[in-house]
Amino acid sequence: MLDIRPMTEENYAAAALIEQTCFSDRPWTAEQFREELSLDFSRTFIAYCDGEAAGFVNIWLTPPMALINNIAVLPDFRRRGIAQEMINAALSVCEDCSSLTLEVRESNEPAISLYKKLDFSQVGRRKRFYENPTEDALIMTKFFRKGEYQ
Ligand SMILES: CC(C)(COP(=O)(O)OP(=O)(O)OC[C@H]1O[C@@H](n2cnc3c(N)ncnc32)[C@H](O)[C@@H]1OP(=O)(O)O)[C@@H](O)C(=O)NCCC(=O)NCCS
Repeated sequence: MLDIRPMTEENYAAAALIEQTCFSDRPWTAEQFREELSLDFSRTFIAYCDGEAAGFVNIWLTPPMALINNIAVLPDFRRRGIAQEMINAALSVCEDCSSLTLEVRESNEPAISLYKKLDFSQVGRRKRFYENPTEDALIMTKFFRKGEYQ
């Protein structure tokens, strides 16, 4: 069973563990996840699959736009619709916003496929944005009406 819960003081370390498993280029530390809890514009959701923390998404609400800072699902839990459900959870708190934007490595085909499936489209490119290895970022945005996902 999939359960998507807000990150709290009790479970932020689980998000950090997922982050460190999924990203090698300067992953956020547990302390950075904890700091997110004190930012009134930040929301983090953790997906639990049969009680096990399997993925997280972090967004910033800066109306009229919202930003996905990071999203990851542990390798053993991929291709089960978890990322898609986490983005839906994120959209449900975007009531004052009319777009959701993110940056993605141009070689990250799984993530780009996910975003395209959810109607994000490429709106720009940041040259040599990433390191280890150096790579461009695609800027992808999904546009919607305020309150569409409430
Ligand atoms: C990208 C990522 C978050 C996707 O998580 P996920 O839970 O496996 O994704 P979902 O199961 O919700 O996939 C939804 C859709 O996205 C697309 N998709 C996801 N993974 C894919 C893959 N490996 N290849 C092709 N399409 C893929 C498919 O359209 C899929 O729908 P389908 O399974 O019905 O075909 C996951 O692969 C991940 O954590 N990657 C490492 C971290 C990362 O790159 N994060 C993004 C940074 S911008």
